[in-house]
Parts: sequence; C-alpha cells; structure tokens
Amino acid sequence: MKNVTLIYGDGIGKEVMSSAVEVIKATGADINFEEEIAGLEAVEKYGEPLPKKVIDSIKKNKVALKGPVTTPVGKGFRSVNVTLRKELNLYANVRPVKTYEGLKNRYEDIDLVIIRENTEGLYAGIEKEIEGGAETTRLITKEASKRIAKYAFELARRESRKMVTALHKANICKLTDRVFLDAVNEVHKDYPEIELNDLIIDAACMNLVMYPEKYDVLLATNLFGDIVSDLCAGLIGGLGLTTGSNIGKDGAIFEAVHGSAPDIAGKDIANPTACILAGAKMLNYIGYEKEAKKIENAIEGLIKEGKYLTKDLGGNLGTKEFTKRVIERLQ
Ligand code: NAI
Ligand code: MG
Repeated sequence: MKNVTLIYGDGIGKEVMSSAVEVIKATGADINFEEEIAGLEAVEKYGEPLPKKVIDSIKKNKVALKGPVTTPVGKGFRSVNVTLRKELNLYANVRPVKTYEGLKNRYEDIDLVIIRENTEGLYAGIEKEIEGGAETTRLITKEASKRIAKYAFELARRESRKMVTALHKANICKLTDRVFLDAVNEVHKDYPEIELNDLIIDAACMNLVMYPEKYDVLLATNLFGDIVSDLCAGLIGGLGLTTGSNIGKDGAIFEAVHGSAPDIAGKDIANPTACILAGAKMLNYIGYEKEAKKIENAIEGLIKEGKYLTKDLGGNLGTKEFTKRVIERLQ
C-alpha cells in the first residue's frame, strides 16, 4: 500500500477531485489517501491557507494529488501553489498537451509538452511598494535555468521527442533572459541529437495558435510557461483536459492546469478529466503503470466515442455522470 497526500481544494475542487479519487480506487491500485486541507477552506478552519501539517504530510509521503485552490486577486494570502512548489523545491512543471481524437478542434496533430520553471522568475515573491507604484523582481538564476533545461532535454530524450523550443523575451529582458538562454545552450551540448531553437514569447503565441503541430517541447521561465499552458490547453479543447505535474528531486505534486473555476463551482458541470488524468500521472509516478494506462485509455476511448462528454466539450453530461462512464470503461 502507498500513502498519498490528497488535497481536494476550493471551488470545483471537491467535485472534480472526488471523481479522480473514485476512478483511481476503481483501478484497484492500493492507495491510502491522507487528506489534508489547503486554500480557502484551510483559512476558514485553521486561520491559514497552508498549515504546516500539509507540507509535512507531502514531505513524508513524497507524493500528493492536489485539487485547485483559490488565490485572492491583488490582496490577501500568497498563492498556496507557489508556496508548495517553492517549499518542496518542485522545480519542473510538466504540462503535456495532445489532440484528442473525436473532439471537434481546429487542429489535428498537436503533441507537445510545456516544461515550466516552477521556483523563480516573476513568482519569486520579491514585490514591494515604491513611491508612485510597486515593483516586482523577476529572478532568473543560472542554476535553476540549467536544472530546468536539463529536465526538458532529459524528457525529450526519454520520450523520443526531437525538438526543444526555449521561450523568452531576451530582446527586452536582456540580462535575465540572457542568463536563461545561455544556460539552455550550455545544457544542450549534452543532447546533440535534440534540436534546440528559441522564440520570443509574443511571436511564440502567434505561432502556437497558427501552427501548433510544429512544436514538441516548449521550455519556459515561470510566467511565460503559465500563460502558454492555458493557451495550449485552449488548442485542444480547454482547461478541462490538461494536467500539470510538479516534479522535484524528492517528491511530486500532481494536479490539473486549471484553477478553482468559481463560475461553475457546485453545479456538477465541471469536467473532471484533468484531475482524473492527474491521478493517472500520479499512479504512473509511484509505479502503478498498468492502472495509469487503464485510466488514460478509458478517457481517450470515451472522448473518441463522443457520446458522453461534459458541457465544456460540447456534451451534456454532468461531472458525476461522466465519472461513472469513465469507471465503466476501465478494463
Ligand atoms: P480557472 O482555471 O479556474 O478558470 C478559467 C475558465 O476555465 C473558467 O471559465 C472556468 O469555468 C473554466 N474551467 C476551468 N476548469 C474547468 C473544468 N474542469 N471544466 C470546465 N471548465 C473549466 O481560472 P481562474 O478563473 O482565472 O482562477 C480561479 C481561481 O483559481 C483563482 O483564485 C486562481 O488563483 C486559482 N488557480 C489555481 C490553480 C491551482 O490551484 N493549481 C491554477 C490556476 C488558478
Ligand atoms: Mg495558470
């Protein structure tokens, strides 16, 4: 039996994570979920968004499945996600984006993965008020840049991917993005079989919308990776589908790319696919590869069949009903 920390999260978190837990249990994987509370719910219950015992639990189990948590905009507590990623040094955020057969999309052959640096950049939390405004520091270090570049090239090699595209704004951020690009180039020397190129982030956005099938591995600093992740999710059918694995040397947190979606919370209409697939990534990570594959096949089959989809994908199934269909398809 394997212990896994479980955080349901806020907003649609309870709904979509309950689906994920049900599906994981239905695969037969022998997992003991240790539930912890973080986010708004933790503020109400413990007076803080990320109680120390949540971090302790993840440190002990070295793996967590996490639902989305709400972060107040422009005020209030610091993002639980950013704190967790930093505290546990989960430096690589891995976000695959692949076309699903059966969905009506503008593109047919998208198969890319975004590797987002997860510990620094504009998320370093160095922000202060200054006279007449405020200032945020974008921290880019050689060490973190090399570490994330190595992760990207290793993943490319492991998954037989051919090309890494580094996203930057080195024409404007001449110092910080020079550090990033130099680090990427240096690491690339050890991976001669993989092509490396780079794109300025705004041009990259246009290119991704026009020719997404041309891209393979996208390597980005923290904020650019965040933005491009949602953009790429939109290319294949939306945030209901994409997962984000936060990986460190000594542990990992698996989640969806999407947030707590307060606009649709409590209505049984959220698409649980992203969280269910995050569950599959988690299973894979702890050695339940067969069970993970079962889940991925069930989702792919269901989407391809096209009869039973949630509202965001043009269907009319609720979260619970969709989850039942996924479980029926597990073989
Ligand atoms: P969001 O990702 O929650 O929602 C964006 C849009 O996508 C909304 O229209 C929502 O209804 C839709 N959507 C998201 N997930 C969906 C799903 N599973 N099925 C169907 N539709 C879905 O982003 P938003 O609204 O900007 O942020 C809401 C809150 O979530 C904020 O407090 C934000 O800080 C937090 N957040 C948390 C994340 C995490 O915990 N990893 C990641 C992103 C945002
Ligand atoms: Mg985001």
